[in-house]
Amino acid sequence: MQRIGVLTSGGDASGMNSCIRAVVRKAIYHGLEIIGINRGYSGFVDADMGPMNLGSVADIIGRGGTILHTARSKRFQTKEGRALAFENVQRFGVQGLVVIGGDGSFTGANLFQQEYGIPVIGVPGTIDNDIAGTDYTIGFDTAVNNVVEAINKIRDTATSHERTFVIEVMGRNSGNIALAAGLAGGAESILIPEIPFNVEDICKKLLSGIKRGKLHSVILVAEGAASGIEIGQRIKDFTGFDTKVTILGHLQRGGSPSAFDRILAARLGAKAVELLMAGETNKMVGMKAGEIVASDLSEVIGKASPINKEMYELAKILSI
Ligand code: F6P
Repeated sequence: MQRIGVLTSGGDASGMNSCIRAVVRKAIYHGLEIIGINRGYSGFVDADMGPMNLGSVADIIGRGGTILHTARSKRFQTKEGRALAFENVQRFGVQGLVVIGGDGSFTGANLFQQEYGIPVIGVPGTIDNDIAGTDYTIGFDTAVNNVVEAINKIRDTATSHERTFVIEVMGRNSGNIALAAGLAGGAESILIPEIPFNVEDICKKLLSGIKRGKLHSVILVAEGAASGIEIGQRIKDFTGFDTKVTILGHLQRGGSPSAFDRILAARLGAKAVELLMAGETNKMVGMKAGEIVASDLSEVIGKASPINKEMYELAKILSI
């Protein structure tokens, strides 16, 4: 193998740049040439790609987002789009591909490999931490830190005004961001799609908290569990409390990656290059119990990554 390509696809995640840097420098270290593909699979279809060198990734280790840009390409989902992408693969002499992204990105990579035989290795990059085969995805830790920072600020206002705050966080169908940030931020209740909840019970808990002198509360709602606005209204109606709702939205995704995300990104990116050099394909690199491992893409695509129930129970006990 002489020349490999790298792209980022799906929602941007902090640490993607650290991963691109690792892929590029590790490849060059081993004498490979590297092609950067812009805007995810869109760049593949449109031939928006070009050579990268050591300098292309200088000074990006601490920057959020992705210098290669990202997209969710509709055209790559069609046979015609993938045929165009293959033409460009041949034109640019790409012999292997590193795809940094989430489940949808891996589905595309897997299909492309099956149709055209180009070796692909996936690197999990999404704030949602919803990919099987890895304990953590790149960007999750930074996003959780972003949410905790927001909780800290909102708590100042919640305490000062003796209010109840409902904070809606991202995560698509996963409650991992809400759970981790809720435990780290001391949320009074955490609503996640993986565990059924009852708003009346949450209200009763709030009321008993007030009785014993609690002055404010923070409820974390994962977007996949419910709408924060709806939950806020129901709490207001049931308790009569001054209840405010904050939807954190895209404030969660960006920002300089945490040290954890940078290290994870470096290790996963380097491993992806090693796997391509060893002739592997249709694998995803991940971290399990601190070790860098590889799983078959077919084993991780479409599989939900379970939440940590022990953590959920602990958060409940500590938020009494
Ligand atoms: O997958 C990452 C994510 O941020 C989800 O948590 C969220 O549901 C979605 O992307 C938002 O997508 P967009 O940025 O396209 O609105």
